[in-house]
Amino acid sequence: MPDRLKGKVAIVTGAGSRGPGVGNGKAAPALFAREAARVLCVDQFLERAEETCALIRAEKGEASSLQADVTRAADCERVVRTVIERYGRLDVLHNNVGIESRKTLMETTEEEWDRVMAVDVKSMLLTSQAAVPRLREAGGGAIINVSSVAGIRAHGRTAYAAAKAGVIGLTISMAGQLAQDRIRVNAIAPGFVYTPMVAEGMSAELRERRRLAAPIQDEGTGWDVGWAAVYLASDEARWVTGQVLVVDGGLSISTG
Ligand SMILES: NC(=O)c1ccc[n+]([C@@H]2O[C@H](COP(=O)([O-])OP(=O)(O)OC[C@H]3O[C@@H](n4cnc5c(N)ncnc54)[C@H](O)[C@@H]3O)[C@@H](O)[C@H]2O)c1
Repeated sequence: MPDRLKGKVAIVTGAGSRGPGVGNGKAAPALFAREAARVLCVDQFLERAEETCALIRAEKGEASSLQADVTRAADCERVVRTVIERYGRLDVLHNNVGIESRKTLMETTEEEWDRVMAVDVKSMLLTSQAAVPRLREAGGGAIINVSSVAGIRAHGRTAYAAAKAGVIGLTISMAGQLAQDRIRVNAIAPGFVYTPMVAEGMSAELRERRRLAAPIQDEGTGWDVGWAAVYLASDEARWVTGQVLVVDGGLSISTG
């Protein structure tokens, strides 16, 4: 068995997929477990987290599920209490949860702005606040926050773009504050990956246009994002903190 994360215990938030198939939140815990981590799969819908655990167990990995809404501080505290009760330690917090808003500047309502900021940014603050004391106890660890290329390039979906840029700011701020505790904090910015999150209502034509948009003209998947998370979670990244790892087939460096 591969063992890049052997001995480590990880929490993954949003560790399911909203539809059939494998999204970012499902691929990361599956790959963590393949690399010998023990994983707590957290989702607001228990059955989605259970599905990921079943996938992991089918590959003889170790995982368990927990229902929680990570926009609530009490739930985040319970997530961290549970990981300690079940596995005795915490090494990796993978903040995958995020929702999209498709509204432009003038369409965005106050209510939508608040909802996207709560789910995409506040959730990462709350899980981190709950996890940091336990990561300190473990002598260090890794926090990985899922951002998006929407946070670093002009993007018409205003609240989503602002939230994902906020994730990067939060990541850098936390990285500076936690480095002395050997807690590394990094972000991943996926490009146009094809996952259940975006598949709903997408025409075959748009899917093909997304595929061709990046210089590497091959469709990105949740697995591509998951492998980036494995690297950042592992000791291979021991000297890497406060960075944004862009996983987009070259989309963001393209002039085309
Ligand atoms: N798919 C893409 O093209 C793309 C591109 C860039 C970034 N991303 C980012 O990837 C992340 C998610 O990707 P995914 O494929 O896992 O999406 P997904 O929509 O399938 O979400 C995964 C899970 O998150 C759970 N969830 C949502 N809100 C929650 C909450 N408050 N508490 C607990 N669980 C909650 C959902 O129930 C779902 O099972 C997001 O941060 C998203 O912004 C995706």
